[in-house]
Amino acid sequence: MRPKKEEIARAAAALRAGRLVVMPTETVYGLAASALNARALGRVFAAKGRPADNPLIVHVGSKAELARVAASVPALARKLVRAFWPGPLTVVVPAAPSLPRAVTAGLATVAVRMPAHPVALALIRAAGVPVAAPSANRSGRPSPTTVAHARGDLGCAVAVYLDGGPAEHGLESTVVDCTGPRPVVLRPGAITVEQIQRVCGDLAIGTRGADAPRSPGMKYRHYAPSARVWVIEGRATEARAGVQRTLGRLAAADRRAGVIAIGDERYAGAEVFRVPTLAALGRELYAIFREADARGLEDLVVRAVPERGLGRALMNRMRKAAER
Ligand code: TXA
Ligand code: MG
Repeated sequence: MRPKKEEIARAAAALRAGRLVVMPTETVYGLAASALNARALGRVFAAKGRPADNPLIVHVGSKAELARVAASVPALARKLVRAFWPGPLTVVVPAAPSLPRAVTAGLATVAVRMPAHPVALALIRAAGVPVAAPSANRSGRPSPTTVAHARGDLGCAVAVYLDGGPAEHGLESTVVDCTGPRPVVLRPGAITVEQIQRVCGDLAIGTRGADAPRSPGMKYRHYAPSARVWVIEGRATEARAGVQRTLGRLAAADRRAGVIAIGDERYAGAEVFRVPTLAALGRELYAIFREADARGLEDLVVRAVPERGLGRALMNRMRKAAER
């Protein structure tokens, strides 16, 4: 499964030459380009069909490399990096003025993370440049958790595809703004709010409140299958009954529905995607979205999960998928 040394060397050479590489990370697959090459960055936006005002995450191969893409490293960022790198945590810090505009979308800040996947680290280190990498999907599609998903979306726009197996987390990194007095979680992810609180104490969640700092990417409809997604709110028993009622209503309207069953939940009258745990739902959510579309399902029903721990990231992605 793990790509060979020669394949990583070939991918690193492609990056240095301004071409695109799909790389595995522990969160989702990334569409990698040299963060120092404006033309390569242009190819990323074109391949994804990504709006130009949505900045990219720069991936680095060591903690020390953060200082090379940042104008300064706030103490808060240093603390988070020490606790969570390499891993699924992205820090937003003041941007080095030398970075191409396409990376930051003209913002004064840059988002940076050091991935925990050995193939991603080997690639970044072999390339010898910081690597900008959005998720390797067409804009608006669910993030890819296997190399086949990425290939299906991006085809021959990419020079080298590196297969690192199914992604370990399946949800994108936690994005934390470190430019203010306290951390602001702009996008919940695999590193939980509770984990960050243990390291930093007080924090804010940027997706709530009208005047909260925004992550440009959060305004777009995201993570969505073509099937209509229904997230049934409420506590466990109530939500499960709500799911079954919704399935009944969809069946009566002659719609082809799927349902995500968590643990030993039982539902009738729909195609069932079963996941044993919430961690498994995190790993498989995007693959289920894609599979629902492949099967031509018109609706996909899932119950709400408690908004703590990983549940916060799950509810963020599921609600976004349910937006119309
Ligand atoms: O797990 C991940 O983070 C994956 C893998 C490939 O590393 N990457 C990823 O990239 O999810 P992307 O481009 O799909 O999402 C980047 C998010 C967007 O919501 C974007 O708006 C935000 O990070 N972002 C990037 N730069 C930012 C900045 N300077 N300030 C605030 N938000 C920023
Ligand atoms: Mg994305």
